Parts: sequence; C-alpha cells; structure tokens
Amino acid sequence: MDCPLVFHGTAIHSVGLEQLEILENAALVIDTDGRISAFHKNIAHDDAALRVPGARLHRLRRGDFLVPGFVDTHNHAPQWSMRGLGQGLHILDWLDRVTFPHEARFADPAYARRVYESCVDGFLRQGVTTASYYGSRHSEATQILADVCKAKGQRAFVGKCNMDRNAPYYLRDESAESSLRETEECVRHIKSIDPEGVLVRPVITPRFAICCTPELLKGLGEIAARDPQLAIQTHFHEAEQEINATKELFPGFKSEADLYESYGLMSTRSILAHCTFMNDYDMERVQSLGCGVAHCPISNMTVGGGFMTAPIRQFLRRDIKVGLGTDSGGGFSSSILDNIRLAVIASNAQEVTSKGADKALSLEEVFYLATLGGARVCCLEDEIGNFEVGKQFDAIWVTTEPNEAMTVPEAEDSTRTIFEKFIMTGDDRNMSRVYVKGRLVKGC
Ligand code: GUN
Ligand code: FE
Repeated sequence: MDCPLVFHGTAIHSVGLEQLEILENAALVIDTDGRISAFHKNIAHDDAALRVPGARLHRLRRGDFLVPGFVDTHNHAPQWSMRGLGQGLHILDWLDRVTFPHEARFADPAYARRVYESCVDGFLRQGVTTASYYGSRHSEATQILADVCKAKGQRAFVGKCNMDRNAPYYLRDESAESSLRETEECVRHIKSIDPEGVLVRPVITPRFAICCTPELLKGLGEIAARDPQLAIQTHFHEAEQEINATKELFPGFKSEADLYESYGLMSTRSILAHCTFMNDYDMERVQSLGCGVAHCPISNMTVGGGFMTAPIRQFLRRDIKVGLGTDSGGGFSSSILDNIRLAVIASNAQEVTSKGADKALSLEEVFYLATLGGARVCCLEDEIGNFEVGKQFDAIWVTTEPNEAMTVPEAEDSTRTIFEKFIMTGDDRNMSRVYVKGRLVKGC
C-alpha cells in the first residue's frame, strides 16, 4: 500500500463465540503493510488520533459499517462453473455423473485460468477474503489457481486434489507415486510465489479416502509430517453412502477419524468438511486431535452431506473449531451470507429434533463462524478474523443503502438491527469495498 489508511465510523466484529462488539465511533489505523496498528474504540470525529501523517482518511456514513472479511473454509474452485447442478443426487452418484466429467475439463490450462479468474473475482465480490480451495487433480491448473489468488489478492489455501482410484481413468491420478510427485510440485510452486505464506499457502488435499489408495494416503501423511506448516483438508463423515463405501474399502477402521489418523492426516492443521454423521467417538477424536470443522449447511442439505445437517451445537460445546464453507459446487451458493442463513435454519431444525437439547445458533454465533471461527479452523486466528491490533486488515465495507433484497433500514433502527437486516437479507450489492491485507480488492 502506498500510504496508511484510517477509517472512522462503525466497526462490528466478534471477540468471542457470543460476543459481538458494535462500536459506533471507532477508528482503525492500517499501516502500509496492511496490519491494524491502532484500534480506537470510541473516538470523536475531530480527534487528533485520526490525523495520521500521510494517511488517507475514510469516514463511514451513518448506517455503513466495517466487518471482518468472510472466511470460506471449504470450497472447490473447479466447481465454480457447475454450481447448482445435480442437487438432488446422493454424493457418489453426483460425483460420477456431474462432478468428475466436469473437473476433467481442468486438464486444459486455458479453461482453468478462465474459470479460476471468474471464481476468485466472484468470491472477492461476495466478501470472501480467505478461502480454502480444492483444485482439480491437475497440477498445472492448481498452480494457475494459486497464481490467480495471488494476483487478485485473495488470501487462500490451495491444494491439488489427490484421487488415484474410484474415479474415471480420464480424471484420476495415474498412480499414487505421480499424485505425490505432483503434490510436491504444487507445494513448491505455491511456496515460490509466496515464500512467507503471507497470502497463498499450500494445503494437502486427499479428496476423501474412497478416492485414495492406502499408499497415497500414507505418502500424503508423510509430506504433512515433514512440513509442520502444511494444512490438510478432506471430506469427513459426510453422508451415509460415503461412510458405507469407506467402511467397505477400509474394513479395519471403525471411524474415519481412526482411518485418517493412522495415515497422519488428523491434526490441528486439518480442516474436515461436513462432519454430519458424527457419533460421540468421532467427536471425541476430532476434539482431542484439535481438527477444525468446515460446516457447509447448504451442501449438507443438497448434495454433500446426505441431506442432513451437522451437530454444530455439540461441536461448540466441546470447543471444537468450527467455520463455514460454501462447498461451492456441492452447495449451490457462493455466498457466505447465504450459508449463515442456512446455518441458522439448520440449527433451528436441530433444536427441534434434539427436543431442545441443542439450542439453535444465534446471530452472534453464526457471524462468529463466518469470521473468527473460520480463522481458527484455518489456524489463522493470530492473523485475521477480527479487528485486533496487530492482525491484518481483511474487511468488508458494508453499505446499507437498500437494494431490492435488503430490508430497508429505518431511522429508529439500532446499529444492531441494521446489522441483522444486512446479515439476513443483504447481498454483495451491500459490500461496496472489500480489503485483503489493506489492499482494495473490490470497489474504488
Ligand atoms: N466428497 C468427495 N468429493 C466431493 C466434492 O467434490 N464435493 C462434496 N461435497 N463432497 C465430496
Ligand atoms: Fe466438498
């Protein structure tokens, strides 16, 4: 950035699962490195602290506010161009009939670049400042995805999807050995374009155990063990069809937790997508191994999770890390706001089916999942997720001038009411500017 930034006006962020801080006269100072160097929580518009030498001062009008950027903990970049297709199919049928033939197209680098540019633009427009991406199984396309994230300024984890069996011959990895070699190639490339991992980082991405031979899982665990910084992501206890097929392939394991753990793929750096069908044992393992959950409320009820939801209240009670995922492709929406709403609805249903034992999620809690909770899942809570001093400035400037969707703010509304209207009815038209690490990635 060419100069420091100062914002004065309303800032809203989570400081805990249920603690939403709403500050109507806040000031945030962002240094040229994109970090928050000061956060004044109550300051007058003419306070001397707003006069930072050389800085550009932005004053938010009443009704506008800053929130931290959204974190999408589970996203399939190649599925950007097939969102919404095959929504009633069970997971393995959907993969065979819709997804695998589509992902095969990413053998073509020109097609991959076109889709990935549109995908990253699309997510930034929706305020997704951090995404954990599965690529396709192709090394070149995956490297292009990382290049596109870096160029457009999105914070991202990018992984070559590993799959050396139970997929069509024209898509799957030729062998475990070639899959591992290409994975290391992708990790090297991503580290070469962003050596400090400031924006873009590699992530080990076995699609799920059904698509990976034991040899491949073992090799991926060894890569992860050699590099303690590497994140890991996979699909986990997603749907009955998937769980049964996994048991048939790996009869020696009573839970997917044991299976992935035995290959060294369950750690504090693991992002487990879905976690819908989870018994006490599975939850205990995920909790004690410190893995994070990517809750994908839309795809859980359309394709990915077997038309189910995940026991989020139980995860939170155990202090398991939980964030939200669009699972774009499996889910039809690329919007975290849509997923926030479905997370509320799914939790309402769960309150009923648990006879009141698992209380529905509050607005404060679902907003936390979309921001600070997601940051924890990605082990980035020291870097992003809220506006603490020292963190990087990933933020959405929300403009609540009504569009056709958003409930009109009224003069007597409290700031919390306007925030609630935005969360429950707003969309990307209410996101006038988006910043990642202080850089403007949407708006002007
Ligand atoms: N399980 C294995 N692959 C996929 C995928 O692409 N999407 C979802 N939702 N689940 C999967
Ligand atoms: Fe998925």
